[in-house]
Amino acid sequence: METFWTIGLFMVLHGPPDEVKALDNGLALTPPMGWLTWERFRCNTDCENDPNNCISERLIKVMADTLVSDGYRSVGYEYVIIDDCWLASERDQDGRLLPDPKRFPSGIKHLADYVHSKGLKFGIYEDFGKKTCGGYPGSEFYMQTDAKTFADWGVDYVKFDGCYSNLNDFPAGYEAMGFFLNNTGRQMVYSCEWPFYKIVTGLSVDLAAVRKTCNLWRNYYDVQDSWSSVTDIINFWGNNSLNFTKYAGPGGWNDPDMVILGNFGLSHEEERVQIAMWALMASPLIMSNDLRHMRSSSKALLQNRNIISINQDILGVQGFLLRKLNGIQIWNRRLSNNRMALAFLNENSDGMPRWLDISLADLKLSPTMTYNFTEAFEMKTTFVITKNKQFKVSVNPHGVQLYVVKQL
Ligand SMILES: *[C@@H]1O[C@H](CO)[C@@H](O)[C@H](O)[C@H]1NC(C)=O
Ligand SMILES: *[C@@H]1O[C@H](CO)[C@@H](O)[C@H](O)[C@H]1NC(C)=O
Ligand SMILES: *[C@@H]1O[C@H](CO)[C@@H](O)[C@H](O)[C@H]1NC(C)=O
Repeated sequence: METFWTIGLFMVLHGPPDEVKALDNGLALTPPMGWLTWERFRCNTDCENDPNNCISERLIKVMADTLVSDGYRSVGYEYVIIDDCWLASERDQDGRLLPDPKRFPSGIKHLADYVHSKGLKFGIYEDFGKKTCGGYPGSEFYMQTDAKTFADWGVDYVKFDGCYSNLNDFPAGYEAMGFFLNNTGRQMVYSCEWPFYKIVTGLSVDLAAVRKTCNLWRNYYDVQDSWSSVTDIINFWGNNSLNFTKYAGPGGWNDPDMVILGNFGLSHEEERVQIAMWALMASPLIMSNDLRHMRSSSKALLQNRNIISINQDILGVQGFLLRKLNGIQIWNRRLSNNRMALAFLNENSDGMPRWLDISLADLKLSPTMTYNFTEAFEMKTTFVITKNKQFKVSVNPHGVQLYVVKQL
């Protein structure tokens, strides 16, 4: 019974406690899903030499078109978000933000209308400090104006960065922008970089205050197009499971950064790992990739409804690293309907798949119960596991196996 109580305790620990309230704007009741420019298109402003890939209204429109035509919208990807480098170098004479006139000749309102006409939502980026990370005008001293401008333009999602600012001002500053966004009366998802800058410089951060202020928040470095970056993020999340999981839930999410399936750096196995682990961690599924040029295998993983339904589970409990066995990380996420997801992650590079032959007690499940383990990508293969029948799993190098587990 002790193991059973251990898991019961974990379940209690791993949702937000009642006193930790989420931002009350009615949004992000499950992790937001969408597409963002940054990881794939960065600050490419060179439309003369690279017209198809520069940050411009043309790029945003074609991505909105492709989200619809290629089936992404119908599985839940809804926000189309421009990151940094959309701005003109100066504000207008009334202090309002302007987009770069060459790259966004029709203006942002027009672009937001276009995105809305596709049945999608529109997101934009600004920075809490003097300048954005790319050196464009920041929101310092202009937060109220900028919140109003975004509302006037029809923005549905604001990513608010923290370059060129004083870390000590973060709590008051992010709260102020949240206040001004709320005051516009327009519902906008509020994405904050607040914990990230604090945590990576070794400072403490009040995640309860962050959850009250923001719908999602970055805790760690930007994702890059590589396996080492993806595993570094997963390991950081694993190391800090207990710090983070208790602040995730409907209305507010820890954000391990963009989903990079379809780019250059990950193999098929590694792409399975990212999408499975982002589902396990109740992470926002914000892709950054070139939707015009996707491998069919990447697209199938991004549109896998079984994986998306784990990510979007209505309980909104974030998964945690349960333990490591034989070099395999075992992660657990509590799901609705008395189920859980279990991930077995092999981050090692030694050629052969690794095996585990494990008991219910090894998984901190009750040894007196019977469980169905169903492979979660296809939801076609089920194993019945009891006290007398161990669970065997083989995990490829840089690979993952994911199961939905139901107590019978
Ligand atoms: C503003 O905040 C109030 C109080 O928390 C909330 O009820 C309301 O829905 C919010 N409005 C918007 C537009 O976010
Ligand atoms: C996770 O913790 C291990 C053991 O303390 C440490 O070696 C590793 O660097 C940590 N990784 C990250 C990304 O925090
Ligand atoms: C996690 O919590 C522990 C204990 O409160 C603290 O020492 C540690 O710095 C926290 N880690 C992060 C990344 O905030």
